[in-house]
Amino acid sequence: MCGISCILSLATTSQHQAALQPRNGEHKGAATERARLEEELDRSLQQIVHRGPDSCGNWISDDCRVALGHVRLSINDLSPSGAQPFHAPSHGVHAVVNGEFYDYDRIRAQLEKELPEYTFTSHSDSEIVIALYLAYGLNFTEHLRGEFAVVLYDERRELFVAVRDRYGIKPIFWTIVDDGRGHGGKRLCVAAEAKAFLPLGWEPQWDVRSLKDAGWNHDTRTIFKDVQKLRPGHYMTCQSFSRIEERPYWESSYPDKSIIDARTPEELIAGVREKMLESVRLRLRADVPIGIYLSGGIDSSVLAGMVAHLVKEQNVSLGSAPPSERVTCFSIAFDEDSGFDESSIANRTAEWLGVKYLKKLMNEEELAKRFEDAVWHCEQHNPDFNFVGKYALSEVPQEAGYKVVLTGEGADEIFAGYPLFLPDYLREPDHAYEAHNPLPATERSTQFDSAEQEAREHYRAIGADGGTSDLSIPRRMLNSISTINGMTAFQPDVFAAWTDHAYPASDPHMTIATNADGLARHNINQKWHPLHSALYVWSKGNLPNIFLTCLGDRTEMAHSIEARTPFLDHHLTEYVNHLPPSVKLRWSSEEKRFVEKWILREASKPFITRELYERKKHPYSAPTAWPRGGPLHRLMKGLVTEDNVRQLGFVSWGKVGGLVEEAFGEGGDPRALRLAIVVAQWVVLAQRFGVATAGAEGC
Ligand SMILES: *[C@@H]1O[C@H](CO)[C@@H](O)[C@H](O)[C@H]1NC(C)=O
Ligand SMILES: *[C@@H]1O[C@H](CO)[C@@H](O)[C@H](O)[C@H]1NC(C)=O
Ligand SMILES: *[C@@H]1O[C@H](CO)[C@@H](O)[C@H](O)[C@H]1NC(C)=O
Repeated sequence: MCGISCILSLATTSQHQAALQPRNGEHKGAATERARLEEELDRSLQQIVHRGPDSCGNWISDDCRVALGHVRLSINDLSPSGAQPFHAPSHGVHAVVNGEFYDYDRIRAQLEKELPEYTFTSHSDSEIVIALYLAYGLNFTEHLRGEFAVVLYDERRELFVAVRDRYGIKPIFWTIVDDGRGHGGKRLCVAAEAKAFLPLGWEPQWDVRSLKDAGWNHDTRTIFKDVQKLRPGHYMTCQSFSRIEERPYWESSYPDKSIIDARTPEELIAGVREKMLESVRLRLRADVPIGIYLSGGIDSSVLAGMVAHLVKEQNVSLGSAPPSERVTCFSIAFDEDSGFDESSIANRTAEWLGVKYLKKLMNEEELAKRFEDAVWHCEQHNPDFNFVGKYALSEVPQEAGYKVVLTGEGADEIFAGYPLFLPDYLREPDHAYEAHNPLPATERSTQFDSAEQEAREHYRAIGADGGTSDLSIPRRMLNSISTINGMTAFQPDVFAAWTDHAYPASDPHMTIATNADGLARHNINQKWHPLHSALYVWSKGNLPNIFLTCLGDRTEMAHSIEARTPFLDHHLTEYVNHLPPSVKLRWSSEEKRFVEKWILREASKPFITRELYERKKHPYSAPTAWPRGGPLHRLMKGLVTEDNVRQLGFVSWGKVGGLVEEAFGEGGDPRALRLAIVVAQWVVLAQRFGVATAGAEGC
C-alpha cells in the first residue's frame, strides 16, 4: 500500500503543434525540463511519504509530458524487483499502484498461459496490472479484486488511465493546474492525497458551494475548489492529452423485490460463512506479519475468530508473523467509566481465541495532542473526535512493528448495522422472503411508526436537523427513504450571510438524490426494496467519504498502516446484496425487537463468544460530555477565535462565537460541540494548507 502522484501535460494548440514538429534539434531544454519535473514530483511525494516510507520511484516520458511517481510501503515482494513504477518496455506501458490485489497467484498463472510474450519481473501482486492491461485492454479492471488505486500510461495509444476500487477504500484525487511554464499550459495532476498537489502549483481555495451542499460528502467534490475525487468503481481516462472522461466499471445491485427467494435461511447462512472465510483467507497473504483491529463489536471479533480458525485448523500462515504471535489484535482503550470503553470485551474475545492482544490507553489529553495532525491527514472535517481515536489506533500496530491489519469496516453497510436503516426496512413488506419472515404482516406498520418516532426523537436529542419530509422532491426521487435524513443530520449550519446569496440553490438532500444516477434511481423506485435503496445510497456517500477516509485510509496511512477490509470484498458483497432484506434486519419474536446484521451474527456463531453473539447494539450512541478547562476545551478555545474564523471568510462569527462555551462541561450542548469541532478543523486546514480566505467576489 503506497502513495502515488502523477502529472500529465494537457494539450494546448501551440503545444500540440510543437509535438508534431520533427524531433531533430528539439529538446534543447529537455534536460532542464526533466530535472525540474523530477524535482517537483519529489516534493509532491514528500508530502505523502507517510504512505510509503520504504522507497520512492518515478518514470518520466522522453517528451516530459507524463510523469508517474510512487512511494512504497513494502508488503509483498520485499526485494527491489517489487519497486514501482512497473513497465512493459516493449509495449510502452507504465503503471503505479497503491493497494492490494487478491487471488493473484491464480490470475498470474492464467496470464502466463494467455500472454506468453510477457515475462513477469517480480513477485509483487501489483505487477498483474500491466499484464492484465496487455491481455484485456481496458477490461483489465474487471479482473482486479481488492482495494486499490492505479494509474497507467500507454504510450502507443496516448492513453492515461486512473482506476479506483469498487468501494473507494483507496483514494484518488485529481485537479487541473497551471503548469507554471509561463505559456498558459495546463496539467492534470492525480494523487493519493490533495496535499501532494501543493508542490505542483495548486493554490487551495474553499469550495463553499460544496460545503453548503454537502457535495464533499456525497459526490465527486471535496472541500477544496477544483479538487475532485474519482468515484468508487470508476476509471478516468485522458486520451491524447485532452479528452478527460470518467466511466463506471462496476456497480452495486440488489434483487428485484417482487421475486421470491426460494433459498432457506440455513443455505444463506452457510453461503455467507463460506464467502467470508474466503475473503479473510485471501487477505492473509503478505510477506510481513498481519494484525487485526479488535473492538467490542461483532464485525472485528468475527474477523479475529476466522483468522484464528484458519491459522489453527487449516495451517494458513498469517503473513510472516512468527508462530508465537500468530494472531495479534490491537485496540485503544478509554477510561472504563467513560461509557465507551470496549477493551474489556475485546480482552475476553482475545482470551477465548487464545490470541495476543495489545492496547493503548487513550484519554482526553492524548486526543487533544493528536487533533491537529489528524486533521492534516484527513483533509476534511468530521462531526466528532472519532477520527482522532482512529489516528491514535494506527500507532499501536506501528509501534509493534506491523504494517498490515484487517479491519471490520463495511460490515454495517452491507449487513444493515445502523439503527437509521430500520424505518426504511419497515417502509414496505419484504415479499421476497415472506415465508421465512418472523415479523407478522399485521405488526409491520405499528413497528414502522415507532421506528420513525424513535429516529425523530434521536435527532432532536442530539440537536441535529430532523431532515426533510417524505413529500420533498429529493425523498420522492429516492422512493421516500428516510435514511438520507440521517446522512445530513450534521450538516453544519454556520455559514456567513453572503453565502446564502451566492449559493441560493444549496440543498444537501438534493445532492444525495442526484448522486445516485438515473439508472440507480430507476432501480430504487421500481425494483429494490427500500432497505436496499438505503444501503445503496449510504454506500455511495458516507461510506467512501467519511468511514473509509477519516476513519480509514487517511488515519491509517498517516502511520504507514495498510488496512484490509474483508467485508468489502466484492465477491462477498455481491452475494450479501442479493440476500432478502429480512435476513439482514430480522424480527426476534422472543425478544420483541429487531436484530441488526442477523445473518452476519448467525454466520459468525462458531467464531465468536456467546457474549458477542447475544450482545445487543446500543440503539443510538450517547453524546459525550467533555469537562470545562480540560485539554479539549482549551484546544477548541484556542482554535475557534474571532480572528481565525474571519480568516475562513465563509463562516459567521455571530453563529459560532459562543459555541465552545456552550459545548463543554456538564450538560454541554452536543450540537454546539459538533459545530465547534467542525469549525476548529476548518481553522487547522486553513493554516496548514494555506487556504485563501473565501469571499463573495470569488464566486
Ligand atoms: C471485454 O469485455 C467485454 C464485455 O464483458 C467482452 O465481450 C470482451 O470480449 C472483453 N474483451 C477482452 C479483450 O477481454
Ligand atoms: C496442519 O498441520 C498439522 C501438523 O503439521 C497436520 O497434522 C495437519 O494435518 C494440518 N492440517 C491441515 C488442514 O492441513
Ligand atoms: C486480559 O486482561 C487481563 C487482566 O488485565 C490480563 O491479565 C490478560 O493478559 C488480558 N488478556 C489478553 C489476551 O490481553
